[in-house]
Amino acid sequence: MKIQNLLVTGGCGFIGSNFIHYIFRQPDFEGRIINIDALTYAGNPFNVATVKDAYGERYHFRRIDICDFPSLESVFADFEIDAVCHFAAESHVDRSIKRPDAFVNTNIIGTFNLLECARSKGEEFLLFHHISTDEVYGSLGPDGAFTEETPYRPNSPYSASKASSDHLVRSYNRTFGLPTTLSNCSNNYGPYQFPEKLIPLMILNALEYQSLPVYGDGKNVRDWLYVEDHCEAILTIMKQGRRGETYNVGGATELENIAIVENICDLVDEYAGRRAGKAARRHLITYVADRPGHDRRYAIDFSKLTTELDWIPRETFSSGLRKTVSWYLEHRNWVADVRTKDYQRWIEQQYGRMP
Ligand code: NAD
Ligand code: DAU
Repeated sequence: MKIQNLLVTGGCGFIGSNFIHYIFRQPDFEGRIINIDALTYAGNPFNVATVKDAYGERYHFRRIDICDFPSLESVFADFEIDAVCHFAAESHVDRSIKRPDAFVNTNIIGTFNLLECARSKGEEFLLFHHISTDEVYGSLGPDGAFTEETPYRPNSPYSASKASSDHLVRSYNRTFGLPTTLSNCSNNYGPYQFPEKLIPLMILNALEYQSLPVYGDGKNVRDWLYVEDHCEAILTIMKQGRRGETYNVGGATELENIAIVENICDLVDEYAGRRAGKAARRHLITYVADRPGHDRRYAIDFSKLTTELDWIPRETFSSGLRKTVSWYLEHRNWVADVRTKDYQRWIEQQYGRMP
């Protein structure tokens, strides 16, 4: 498979931007990347600011909402898109509880629009890779792990919208023969993650001696994967994965939330030092009301990906978390930018208003 014009959606978000940096570093990737992103609060053009200078005409960016079908059609035609790697989504569970509508629009309608554009390309279209989540499988008890055969039981509007998009992707493969692959991944962490998610939020709050809100009893379990390992898994699946198949991706690192927060407190104490008169940052931990419908435990069996495609995660949690804490401490300007209220105004000046 020789992809020439790869459409990356959501390439200014956390995983999408890491993926663009990652794929351009691969010597065997010779194609163009066309990054489309609506630049919501979570999309940051600075995440890929160096790419245009480094790769010139091999990189293009368009500010487009995937719910805007005519604009999508134009991009598919103008850039002769022959493959899609689809990251764009509303991704935060807490926001889906407060405002589910954007999740239904972007995650379901947006994915449908992309599938329709891909289908219209006919035989020349090579691959639609859909990025999804382990949350579609619901919640586990103390034992067991999600496999690709686990029935879907989403519990939040976010995971329900992702489940819906997964089903659409599957149906376009079965009904129309669209070449698809699908990956369901566990919790990612690393550089460029918007500081609403557990790990960057706790790093920055700890740094600034603000309270560290742990939901419920702090014993909910997630499986953690360093973002670059996820990028490698995605590219491996795109290259070698069987069309029409789903692959689970995970980090083999199950941890209770409280253990992660304590670990972060100790690392921030170590790297940033303690302010005079301040106690260890673990004292900032505050138990708060639980998230409604909070899934208790996720664990992911990714043996299919290991057996069929020889992929395993490379980064340990201990080294990955150290890298991540260092990155946030060294990128205070990035943090200040994504937190400022002027930021959306700046985006509009640079890229114009969305229709
Ligand atoms: P993110 O929130 O950091 O980035 C999402 C990106 O999509 C942003 O750049 C945003 O501007 C863009 N976007 C949102 N709505 C759009 C629209 N209507 N049109 C065009 N662009 C739009 O998300 P992320 O954490 O990078 O997640 C990327 C994908 O990976 C999502 O599909 C998510 O469901 C999936 N995923 C995430 C994780 C995780 O731990 N973060 C784990 C498994 C799967
Ligand atoms: O499992 C994959 C999913 O991981 C992705 O599909 C989602 O896009 C991504 O956001 C993530 O979902 P989670 O809900 O697991 O991530 P979050 O960082 O929001 O929360 C991780 C855990 O930490 C969860 O059990 C809730 C808890 N938490 C979170 C926040 C933000 C807290 O205790 N306090 C907090 O302030």
